[in-house]
Amino acid sequence: MKLSVIGCGYLGAVHAAAMASIGHDVVGIDVDERKIDALSRGEAPFFEPGLQDILTEGIAAGRLRFTTDMSAAQGAIVHFVGVGTPQQKDGYAADLTYVNAAIDALLPYLSPGDVVAGKSTVPVGTAAGLAPRVEAAGATLVWNPEFLREGWAVKDTIDPDRLVVGVPATDAGAAAVDILKQVYAPPVEKGTPFLVTDLATAELVKVAANAFLATKISFINAMAEIAEVVGADVTQLADAIGHDARIGRKFLGAGIGFGGGCLPKDIRAFAARAEELGRGESVAFLRQMDEINLRRRDRAVQLVTDALGGSVFKKNITVLGAAFKPFSDDIRDSPALDVAVRLHGLGAWVTITDPEAIENAKAKHPQLNYVDDRDEALRGADAVLVVTEWDEYRRQMAPEHVSELTAGRIIVDGRNCLDAAAWRNAGWDYYGMGRP
Ligand code: UDX
Repeated sequence: MKLSVIGCGYLGAVHAAAMASIGHDVVGIDVDERKIDALSRGEAPFFEPGLQDILTEGIAAGRLRFTTDMSAAQGAIVHFVGVGTPQQKDGYAADLTYVNAAIDALLPYLSPGDVVAGKSTVPVGTAAGLAPRVEAAGATLVWNPEFLREGWAVKDTIDPDRLVVGVPATDAGAAAVDILKQVYAPPVEKGTPFLVTDLATAELVKVAANAFLATKISFINAMAEIAEVVGADVTQLADAIGHDARIGRKFLGAGIGFGGGCLPKDIRAFAARAEELGRGESVAFLRQMDEINLRRRDRAVQLVTDALGGSVFKKNITVLGAAFKPFSDDIRDSPALDVAVRLHGLGAWVTITDPEAIENAKAKHPQLNYVDDRDEALRGADAVLVVTEWDEYRRQMAPEHVSELTAGRIIVDGRNCLDAAAWRNAGWDYYGMGRP
């Protein structure tokens, strides 16, 4: 099927390449010429496992191309809209400028019977506001939220947990469902749940899912705060409650909290939207979730400060990790980088390394000392912080080896990902998050 994908950022670039990989004929469209040039050359503009391969294959097979020319959307049957919905500069609400601009730019190229499938995360009610414009062009607007995780984006797109499509309760809506089932034929045939809802529910599913995930993380981080007072161990607590299938162990990783381009902005936008709808109190807890999460960054800074005798001033601190999570080069709202920047602000000599995110981090925070090689970064450190749980730090870093490189023996495990006993046995002062 002929498809267009408007917006070639994280979501759009992956979606376009993934749709080509399952056999569709796809054009990706974006206003950013540099991005389009890179994608047209088959270069993934960010680190995402598996993306490079499907980009190259799709382009070589002639099923995938990228352009800045919106008229290329003409002739496609489904137009996916995956542009960004960032946090507004002066508030918490989502900025819908790009969504509106993308729809307006697309309208002249729509044909009757086309489906416009919104994928961006939007405040509930957005689709209803956009629908009349799309319908006036004879097309149907549906909402098909995206649940991909960075680092797993290709897998999550080709083989998702579920597909959700919000459609209007009309014949055109029913026809759009049939078309989308054809688009997603491989997962549909495999039995992947395909949920058809109204537009508002589909929009809400996405923000509710992210709010739930953020709440789960913040809940365990709140337990970490309590554990710290009484000398309990939040990782054992998480294991114990996680055995209850109703709770589950996933997303109960206490540490320096969630970051990235989605969870923080999405819960803020959701709270702002609920307030607009006069239901602010229903999700008032999300503000608290945000606060708990942000407090854990303070805690990591406090732990290293206390361990260094009350001040980090002119101390050599090595920060392992800059990305907001492993298998990503994304530094948007990265707790890891935030902790590093704060320590630098307090007068520490901060050296930071990361397997993938150094270039992005350097461009945003040039004041830090960036080192590619982990061992080089560790040399001479008074204290070490692990803030992104890459395997290079979690599994492949023996305490005895690190002892030969550093000046001090202080390690702060901001992700509770190290073997505390192994570090202590090697003579280190180990500090976890919510652990004695
Ligand atoms: C998230 C959602 O998972 C995804 O479904 C949605 O489409 C986009 O937002 P992503 O931002 O890629 O995906 O990252 P995710 O894996 O959810 O992690 C988010 C943050 O939470 C990271 O900073 C991670 O380190 C943190 N986290 C995750 C924890 O602190 N503890 C955990 O137990 C799990």
